Amino acid sequence: MNSCVLVTGGAGYIGSHATLALLQAGHDVVVIDNLCNSSQESLARVSKIAGRTPKFLEGDIRESDFLRHVFSTHRIEAVVHFAGLKAVNDSLRQPLLYYHNNVNGTLQLCEAMSEAAVFRLVFSSSATVYGEGAQVPIREASPTGVPTNPYGRSKLMVEELLRDLAQSDARWRIAILRYFNPVGAHPSGLIGEDPNGIPNNLLPYISQVAIGKLKQLQIFGDDYPTPDGTGVRDYIHVQDLVNGHLKALAVIDRKPGLNVWNLGTGRGYSVLQMIRAFEEASGRSVSWQIAPRRGGDIAECWADPAKASAELGWEAQLGLSEMMADAWRWQSKNPRGYSSVSHGQHLANDADS
Ligand code: NAD
Ligand code: UFG
Repeated sequence: MNSCVLVTGGAGYIGSHATLALLQAGHDVVVIDNLCNSSQESLARVSKIAGRTPKFLEGDIRESDFLRHVFSTHRIEAVVHFAGLKAVNDSLRQPLLYYHNNVNGTLQLCEAMSEAAVFRLVFSSSATVYGEGAQVPIREASPTGVPTNPYGRSKLMVEELLRDLAQSDARWRIAILRYFNPVGAHPSGLIGEDPNGIPNNLLPYISQVAIGKLKQLQIFGDDYPTPDGTGVRDYIHVQDLVNGHLKALAVIDRKPGLNVWNLGTGRGYSVLQMIRAFEEASGRSVSWQIAPRRGGDIAECWADPAKASAELGWEAQLGLSEMMADAWRWQSKNPRGYSSVSHGQHLANDADS
């Protein structure tokens, strides 16, 4: 058995980019995913770019027998844990599903890791765990708050579960990575974000308006106390984000216990700035209108990335123009995401054009 990194949720948006980066860094990778929000096509494309194939096992992190099988048949050294549900609105409608999947799923995973004596874990958390009144730029030491929805609460619960675990047993080496707003795609245009149905997030929505799939972007509020009145966020290129995971994996080797790092650029952009940057990168115009504020939104949120810089030696390298150019390349080459035609044709028709 070769030693390898287990990537849960590795067929998804961030997981597929991380799988690629891990393969390119020379790791062997085992991906587990139940494909509830993704397609195996993403991994076919990862293999195409990397020239190497990750091992894929379809299954659910809530299934302890499945996890036991994964750990007993592979020499897993570390786990990068992306598997989870992430739609804020769905979480309000189906809280039990979100707690079961995100919290219970992580609990099952940690139990299986412990049984297999695998103690290195990198977890996908979110800036949503910070309190509403957190002062920007947000530092890791800022208090966590009271998330406004079950999705956010599930992330906070998992963070607390992991903190207890690290305190209970000194063998654990855990990285909690709090993502700000991941956007963009691999520069090949072969892999990217493929949201189900109408996107909730800003950039996929803008891209789908630009490609003609959606009519008009609703800007949720122009009366925030920000320079142009629209919401400000810290958008981070998915390539930078996954590099942060590789750095974290290396650092927890020599840094036991629980570590928390923000992954953000330290710069905020407004919705209007994002639209303008996208129009510039794509040469398309994006129709928009002002709509009422969206419940639960805050005015501004951006990271202080100094801790990740000092401790991981990591800083975001890519700016807004790369985020937009790569998001547009992915969208324009794959207007229907991964779900176009049959497998072989898919690569030829959509991605190689
Ligand atoms: P995604 O939906 O594209 O990827 C998640 C993957 O996990 C999917 O492939 C899905 O099929 C799989 N999955 C879900 N539940 C599973 C289960 N029970 N067993 C096995 N596989 C399962 O989402 P993403 O954007 O790549 O996000 C990855 C992680 O990062 C998630 O945990 C998410 O909450 C977190 N995160 C994402 C963002 C963002 O804006 N994209 C921001 C902060 C945190
Ligand atoms: N926005 C619009 N119109 C849209 C979509 C978004 O104007 O159609 C605005 C929002 O109001 C906000 C900004 O664009 O000002 C960014 O919105 P996103 O939905 O893309 O991102 P959020 O910062 O609201 O949410 C993201 C993740 C959540 C996570 C949160 C905090 O999607 O899962 O960051 O980390 F909880």
